[in-house]
Amino acid sequence: MRVALLGGAGYIGAVATRLLSALGHDVAVIDGLIYQRDDRRLLPTASRFIRGDLRDTETLGQALAGADAVVHMGGLVGEPACTLDERLAVELNFASPVLAATAARDLGVPHYVLFSSCSVYGQRDGTVDEDTTPRPLGVYARTKVLAEQYVTDLLSGCADVTVLRLATVHGLSPRPRLDSVVNRMTAQAASSGRIPLNGGSQRRPLVHVNDVAEVLAAVLGHPDGHRVLNVGADRENYTIAEIAETVVRAVPGARIDRGPERDEADARDYHTSFGRLATLFPGSCPTRLIDGVRQIAAAITDRHITDPDLPEYDNLQGLRACHNAGFVQAVRSAECERLHAAYTRASEGALR
Ligand SMILES: NC(=O)c1ccc[n+]([C@@H]2O[C@H](COP(=O)([O-])OP(=O)(O)OC[C@H]3O[C@@H](n4cnc5c(N)ncnc54)[C@H](O)[C@@H]3O)[C@@H](O)[C@H]2O)c1
Repeated sequence: MRVALLGGAGYIGAVATRLLSALGHDVAVIDGLIYQRDDRRLLPTASRFIRGDLRDTETLGQALAGADAVVHMGGLVGEPACTLDERLAVELNFASPVLAATAARDLGVPHYVLFSSCSVYGQRDGTVDEDTTPRPLGVYARTKVLAEQYVTDLLSGCADVTVLRLATVHGLSPRPRLDSVVNRMTAQAASSGRIPLNGGSQRRPLVHVNDVAEVLAAVLGHPDGHRVLNVGADRENYTIAEIAETVVRAVPGARIDRGPERDEADARDYHTSFGRLATLFPGSCPTRLIDGVRQIAAAITDRHITDPDLPEYDNLQGLRACHNAGFVQAVRSAECERLHAAYTRASEGALR
């Protein structure tokens, strides 16, 4: 199968590229390498690599021609990165997937897979599933949920659309990220022996990066109309404090420095059901939190990762540097302006 991976040189994309290529797919990666501008060691090992901007319709046309499936996993991840420049976040997380969907429709690509996030659920009592109405708490989650809606509407009747709402991802990738909760706590424990923790009662579902790639491979083999899938496993719902306690058990000599409970900037708090995925693909997402923790800890202690504080491991720091240097900016093209206006209108209205 010919698969176009948009944003395929990132943390998840690097693992997905390796798996899909090993399974015999013809993988084209399209990525602007926005965090790793000059590091040639990190170029993806795909059949084809196009360095380009996912907001550029010519690049998209070139990348998607002849593809059997397009996977959009490019964009800015998490609220802090999206808050840095909201206009940029809207272009990368909303306009870009919509432009790719338009290209897919015009070129007759039969299957579109959109990477989204369980962050769309916000702060909830009880258990959320795919039928729970999204309640985004910030720019990141809002761009994700509106992209889901626009892409689905645009491709209705033209292509199968699979929306993957990922739990928070952990574990090692050829392009490591240490800025999400498990990897960050593990890096803190392995390098300084301390994990600062204030409160920690918020619940967060987790999934290992290898399992995300396996789920992607599975859905590519089974396109089926319009589908939304939470990606993770029921037993991998934890509180932030439980994550810290697991990390401490796995990293000898590490301890938790507990501070007073305070209002966290990140108010996400939800328990997620992954029953739909488990029914469709029994046995998916088998990797446990402890396994991802051990991987990251080992990468630091055996110096595969020499300095966990380098900006290349932290999307927010990396983005700040690229943004200040003018490498990554809102382009405000006519298409992006039109889609920005559509985003603003939709955000002001009620989310369906
Ligand atoms: N990592 C997580 O914990 C997590 C959780 C939920 C959802 N997701 C979703 O999964 C997807 C991938 O996440 P990731 O952790 O691999 O992120 P990442 O930041 O490591 O990778 C994103 C890639 O997209 C590229 N990119 C972004 N905008 C681009 C543009 N306009 N043109 C060209 N390239 C561009 C970047 O260069 C980068 O390589 C995202 O859609 C994210 O929202 C991730």
